[in-house]
Amino acid sequence: MAVVGAGPVGLAIAWRCAQRGLRVVVRDPAPGSGASHVAAGMLAPVAEAYFGERELTGLLTESAGRWPGFAAELTEATGADIGYRTEGTLMVGLTADDLAEARRLWAYQQGLGLPVTPLRPSQLREREPALAPRVRGGALAATDHQVDPRRLVPALRVAAERAGAVLVPEPVRQLSEVTAGATVVAAGCGAAALTGLPVRPVKGQVLRLRAPGGGPPGFRHVIRGYADGEHVYLVPRDSGEVVVGATVEERSDVDVSAGAVLRLLRAAVDLLPELAEYDLVETVAGLRPGTPDNAPILGPLPDRPGVLAATGHHRHGIVLTPVTADLIAGLITGEGTTEPLLAPFRPDRFHTHSAGAEQSREDDAWN
Ligand code: GLY
Repeated sequence: MAVVGAGPVGLAIAWRCAQRGLRVVVRDPAPGSGASHVAAGMLAPVAEAYFGERELTGLLTESAGRWPGFAAELTEATGADIGYRTEGTLMVGLTADDLAEARRLWAYQQGLGLPVTPLRPSQLREREPALAPRVRGGALAATDHQVDPRRLVPALRVAAERAGAVLVPEPVRQLSEVTAGATVVAAGCGAAALTGLPVRPVKGQVLRLRAPGGGPPGFRHVIRGYADGEHVYLVPRDSGEVVVGATVEERSDVDVSAGAVLRLLRAAVDLLPELAEYDLVETVAGLRPGTPDNAPILGPLPDRPGVLAATGHHRHGIVLTPVTADLIAGLITGEGTTEPLLAPFRPDRFHTHSAGAEQSREDDAWN
């Protein structure tokens, strides 16, 4: 079998398939250079449970539940530290308006049965004393964790290669170049050109800061903030790095704009004033693979026998890596063809009737 794309999703699929004894070739001229290079690595099915995305939330929750085992197995297989951390996520509102907006979402998340624990301001500060005194309130998503995507991808590559997968550092311009019994397209935004699937780039600009003095950042939780109407997240790493993200823009360039840097930094420093003293070490932009319903596209293409999609992960590529790999490997080996988890995410959900057929039905309705 062949996998097109050596980001986390493609490499994890290759690993799982090679573990099952399949001969696997992965094609990518620049492994790990796509969205995962920019991603912060939040494993956040609770904080990312948004109105109108119930089925996606179910898949995020399922995959997050697989992360502890996945991380342990990957570390066992490679000896790599992938920066998996389980301190949880604090969701905070800076102003009264921010808190009102955040509370609506927390109530929705609680209504889904997700673990969101509102905190009094004193409890918030006990957990993170570095938060600005004017932060009005917050809640804990104790099960939302993080991993470092820039450590994850090399580890997955080692695991896949140790299991027998072969990485070929060459591009695939069209699927006819690939001869394999099954071909998985895990090429992020590149899946659109290869398959015609409705995958669009959604730009995200991200900053990386570094704590002064070589020590760890002065906070431990992932922070998701509402700050004067801006949405920002702050991800602390043991190395001293803090990832600050992210814009969400319907654009396909990867330019970094002064305005975006200004807004992200202002929101970050409003929530955690000490960040003003950190070094600004990187500004970067990447392209998330979005879809019409912002949920991934997983499974066989209806009109391309032997081709499966594993793309469209949008804001959730890292958290969805374990479940995507398990589901696609299950499809390829025939173990998981009736897997109910897959049903909402199949590629054929975007197949519509032709415009002519729609028109004649409408005409019938009026006659
Ligand atoms: N998952 C966070 C982002 O896409 O910015």
